[in-house]
Amino acid sequence: MKVIMLGAPGAGKGTQAKKIAAKYTIPHISTGDIFRANIKNGTELGKKAKTYMDQGLLVPDELVVDLVVDRVQQADCEEGYVLDGFPRTIPQAESLDEALKKLDQKIDYAINIEVPDENIIRRMSGRRACVGCGATYHVVYNPPKKEDVCDVCGEKLILRDDDQPDTVKKRLDVYHDQTQPLIDYYEKSDVLKEVDGTMDMEDVFSAITAILGA
Ligand code: AP5
Ligand code: ZN
Repeated sequence: MKVIMLGAPGAGKGTQAKKIAAKYTIPHISTGDIFRANIKNGTELGKKAKTYMDQGLLVPDELVVDLVVDRVQQADCEEGYVLDGFPRTIPQAESLDEALKKLDQKIDYAINIEVPDENIIRRMSGRRACVGCGATYHVVYNPPKKEDVCDVCGEKLILRDDDQPDTVKKRLDVYHDQTQPLIDYYEKSDVLKEVDGTMDMEDVFSAITAILGA
């Protein structure tokens, strides 16, 4: 099963993608996580990506498309995958379709998690991310057992650099401008499914599994 997660920054794509990956035993491929890992490891790609991410801008298409196209051809993706944070522009979606066509594959579902902008700001300011394993929490909606400590690996939890309120506003503008058009794109190819993302996390997941099947 090949699934794309769509939705504004903070809509809950990562939260739900991790649950989908666990339930259907397929890899979770998050371009944001890949960039953050590269930043942490000080790679060339990380250095380039950071200059865009810190401003709330998208990393240029040419730095992300090949990376994902290579990733979906690895052996663990044979049974499918869940893409989180990619595609994010129409050219990215077109490049993905082209590459999948050559591999005789296609996307089965594009799940759009709908959350109004007002809720997004609240979610982002309360989000905490683990510096060790990338797990995410929310101080109110999904708190760790011990304040600012990751339940999974015991490392410190921090506010992501791009979760500062001004950067979140910029990311939302960029989302409406460059990523929202993908909703129409996937509607046209008949794989779009809409989910109300304002429900609590478990209810959002139930709505998603009702679409993907047991
Ligand atoms: P990326 O990491 O993909 O960020 P994003 O799309 O902005 O999404 P987020 O990770 O912020 O949010 P999410 O929807 O995953 O929400 P989450 O589940 O964490 O990208 C970061 C940057 O990298 C981009 O700005 C760009 O620069 C670059 N980039 C990445 N991919 C790119 C690409 N393809 N092309 C170009 N550039 C790219 O949830 C948010 C919070 O809410 C959490 O605290 C969570 O616990 C809480 N929460 C989740 N669900 C619920 C719920 N139902 N109720 C209450 N709280 C909830
Ligand atoms: Zn951790």
